[in-house]
Amino acid sequence: MSTSAPETVLRVASLSAYYGELRAIYDCSLELARGDVLAVIGANGAGKSTLLKSIVGLMNHGARSHLRGLVEFEGRRIDKLGPEEIVDAGIALVPEGRRLFDRMSVEDNLLAGAYLARCRPQAAQRLAEVFELFPRLRERRRQTVSEMSGGEQQMVAIGRALMSGPKLILFDELSLGLAPVMVDEIYRKLAQIIERGVSCVIVEQDLKRALASSTRFCVMLEGSIVLEGRPGEVPMEAITAAYFGAGEARQA
Ligand SMILES: Nc1ncnc2c1ncn2[C@@H]1O[C@H](COP(=O)(O)OP(=O)(O)OP(=O)(O)O)[C@@H](O)[C@H]1O
Ligand SMILES: [Mg+2]
Repeated sequence: MSTSAPETVLRVASLSAYYGELRAIYDCSLELARGDVLAVIGANGAGKSTLLKSIVGLMNHGARSHLRGLVEFEGRRIDKLGPEEIVDAGIALVPEGRRLFDRMSVEDNLLAGAYLARCRPQAAQRLAEVFELFPRLRERRRQTVSEMSGGEQQMVAIGRALMSGPKLILFDELSLGLAPVMVDEIYRKLAQIIERGVSCVIVEQDLKRALASSTRFCVMLEGSIVLEGRPGEVPMEAITAAYFGAGEARQA
């Protein structure tokens, strides 16, 4: 373990995100140090996906959606960049619902994650690394994605994110809809990814699981971050109260 001060990887400051006129995120600020795993917790519609989309350039759509505020990655401002430039900078998203090419093979879906010019020379090596992490995908590399289980598809989505060699991965609904044994497996793989020094943001419905796997957390309510801290340092009651919008957190 390094004893030097942790380096800030991601900084979000006074960020608001709009779908047309509708403001989905209000004045959110957060910081992530290298190696941090941030769990973003919140009820349906709280703005979790919008926060992740804002970080990866998916809210920069002119009239349809836009941002106000600041997003910095490794000290560089990225809130005006497009999605490709942000992948190029080293951030990958594992989106809600996975968004795979259902009719394509596992391998072609993975290779789609290395489409940037910077990534192509390393594609074969990264593919081998993904297969090492997920041997099941190596066995099924020629299989069509639509024929795979939800858990296997989630592995493909995570593998595709890894193909760009990211320093930060944002996981939207990491385990939603998966059988418990598959959730365990996905979380074991997540631990291996974290061990490699990749910083992570995890949006997760399973509160306990999210807190057990993270170094920091924040609770979102109706578009705002109403509570943040480190798991273990904040009582569970305070976290659930913030989640449900009860008590002091509501007025924060
Ligand atoms: N494409 C869109 N157009 C207009 N409004 C949207 C769009 N996507 C999300 N919203 C609105 O923005 C708000 C935040 O939605 P978001 O999807 O970020 O929530 P979430 O916390 O990810 O919810 P969930 O847990 O259901 O995934 C909601 O009020 C939602 O209705
Ligand atoms: Mg969502």
